[in-house]
Formats: sequence, structure tokens, C-alpha cells
Amino acid sequence: MYKIGIVGASGYTGAELIRLLNNHPQAKVAKIYSRSFAGQNLSTVFPAFYGSKLIFQDPEKDDFSDLDLLFLAVPAGAAAEYALRFSGKIIDLGADFRFNEHTLYEKTYGINHKAPKLLTEACYGLPEIFRSEIKKSRLIGNPGCFPTSIILGLAPLIKAGYRGDIIISSLSGTSGAGKNPTEAQHFAHRDENFGPYKVGNHRHTPEIESILSTLSGQNQKVVFVPHLIPAIRGIVSTIYVDKTESLKKVRDLYREFYKDEYFVRVRQADETVETKNVLASNFVDLQLYEDSHADKLIIVSALDNLIKGASGQAIQNMNILFDLPEKTALESFPIYP
Ligand SMILES: NC(=O)c1ccc[n+]([C@@H]2O[C@H](COP(=O)([O-])OP(=O)(O)OC[C@H]3O[C@@H](n4cnc5c(N)ncnc54)[C@H](OP(=O)(O)O)[C@@H]3O)[C@@H](O)[C@H]2O)c1
Repeated sequence: MYKIGIVGASGYTGAELIRLLNNHPQAKVAKIYSRSFAGQNLSTVFPAFYGSKLIFQDPEKDDFSDLDLLFLAVPAGAAAEYALRFSGKIIDLGADFRFNEHTLYEKTYGINHKAPKLLTEACYGLPEIFRSEIKKSRLIGNPGCFPTSIILGLAPLIKAGYRGDIIISSLSGTSGAGKNPTEAQHFAHRDENFGPYKVGNHRHTPEIESILSTLSGQNQKVVFVPHLIPAIRGIVSTIYVDKTESLKKVRDLYREFYKDEYFVRVRQADETVETKNVLASNFVDLQLYEDSHADKLIIVSALDNLIKGASGQAIQNMNILFDLPEKTALESFPIYP
């Protein structure tokens, strides 16, 4: 059994890591860390885990030396400090290791990178695109939730040579912002209420652009407009591009590109893509449409932000690092209704 540690285990993605790893036959959550709840049982913080023997430990008071892999489920800026203290395999669910150079990260997040030298060891953890690089890495920058939905939605087209305009409108549930309550997430404010936020300056735009630029070999800009909706989980991204091929050809391209990818489901032409069909699962659903009147192709992508957008993808990366079948602990279908 691989021994796993989770820093930030008292947060939303940390809790999902614990739940999913409970079904893993070759990995065991050995240590969970929290500064605020050190000394308390897991079920004190999350009553859903009643019966668990796991006790939160203070991450500042451990050297992680007996662990095979450390998940960092903490905010941007904090992860790099922990990464400096552990020489084993690391998967960071935040942004500290998603960029291959520190200046863009610093400009985007407004903080100095605490471990810029480690960026040379890091790999962007999107398995469907960078599997062979992930295999060789020690340190993984797990992608953001919006970027996962958008990059998987565009990769086949970009790799086939598309270089035109890209306009993206995304919807997200409130768990995307983590456990700390804010006014925007407050029930009385968010229920029956939705609208765009951080238009033109969301932190995920540089991440999306840098990966698309890597795939295309040239500077790729996108317009990205996220919206917060009164839901707990789920992301839907609607992506508008110029129509350069027939819808049939593009559908064939997507089917071929993802034919061996268990977690990416290019749906049949008459099927709707919506969050309910991917809820609590590591699947991402893709659908393609055309607007012949405006000569546009429309790609729709749906995933669960806490699973394929975070903890599920992190476990998929862990399986790759340990040379285990990628689906281990992640095979289950979405919950419905
Ligand atoms: N939520 C999503 O859908 C999602 C999707 C993709 C990626 N992510 C990324 O995943 C990371 C975790 O997100 P989350 O939603 O799980 O956040 P969260 O619910 O706010 O939990 C984060 C946890 O990190 C701990 N923490 C905060 N500051 C820390 C520090 N300086 N040092 C150590 N621990 C610290 C906190 O626990 P204690 O105070 O108890 O130590 C907290 O419970 C973030 O980087 C986020 O951007 C989130």
C-alpha cells in the first residue's frame, strides 16, 4: 500500500481526496493535515466520515518523511512552501506548479513564487494531453477546474491546426471557490441569483492560454467569461470558434482523438451535455454543435469541478505516477439524480 498524506484535508478538495482514496486498493490515506483542526478526528469536521480513525495533524510539525506521496490541497502560495519540504512525489491541486515560469504566475496571482527552482521539475497534470510527461515527473501541477473543461474541449481542434478566435462562457457552482464562506457564496445572496464575475481578468485565463499556446506552438489568446450559478458542484463551458470544417468532420476528429480515453465522453449528436450526467464522477462530457447562420462551431464541456476538475484528476495523476491502472478508484458512474 502506498502511504498518502493530504495537506489541506479540512477543505473541499481534501475531503474529496479522502472519500475517493477510501476505494483505492493500493493507496491508503496515512496522514491528514490541517492547521485549524490539528488533534481532532476527521468526523468532527466532516460528520459524513463518521467512524473514521483519521486524526488531523499540524502540517508545520511533521516532516512527511514516511509518505510515498503528498497531495497539497491548499491555496496558491502555500503549496510551494510544503513542496520545498518534501522530496517525494507531490501533486499540488492549486496553481503553484501549473506554469513553467514564475513571472506569469506572479503576475497572475500577485504573489512571489516561493519555489521557482522547482518549476523545472513540474509537469502540468492533464493526463489526456500530457500523460507521458506526467509519468516521468515527481511534481505535478494539477490543472484548474475551468481550464480542464476548456482545454479538453479545445485540444483536438488546436492540435488539428485551428488558430482562430476562441470565446468561452463558463458556469460554475459555488464549491469551486472552496470552503471559506464569502458574501458571493452566501445562500441569501447566491440562491436564485447568477451572473458573470472577473470578466477579462480571471486567474484561469493565463493558465488556459499558456497550455493552448503550448499545444498550438504559437501565442493563443482567449476571451473567457465565468459565471457563478446557484449550484453546489459542476462546470459547463460553452466554447465558440470559427467553423472551418463540417460538423461531421469535427465530430469524427474528437471521437478519434479521445477514442482511448475512458474519462472523456464525446456524446452522440442528439445527447445533451449537463452537469447532472457527470456529478461526483471523473468524467468530462463533450458535445459539438454548429451555427451555420453565423458560421461558428460550438463546443460544450461539462465536469464536476471537485472531481475531474480537482481531486479525481489528482488521483488519476497519482495512478500514473505509481504506474497503476489510471481508472483505479475512479471508475464509478456519476450519481443520479
Ligand atoms: N474547489 C474546487 O473546485 C477546486 C478545483 C480545482 C482546484 N482547486 C484548488 O485546490 C486547492 C484547495 O481548494 P479547496 O476548494 O479545497 O479549498 P478550501 O476548501 O478552502 O480548503 C483549503 C484548505 O487549505 C488549508 N489552508 C489554507 N491556507 C493554508 C496554508 N497557508 N497552509 C496550509 N494549509 C492551508 C485550510 O485548512 P486549515 O486552515 O485547517 O489548515 C483549508 O481547509 C486550492 O488551491 C484551489 O484553488 C479547487
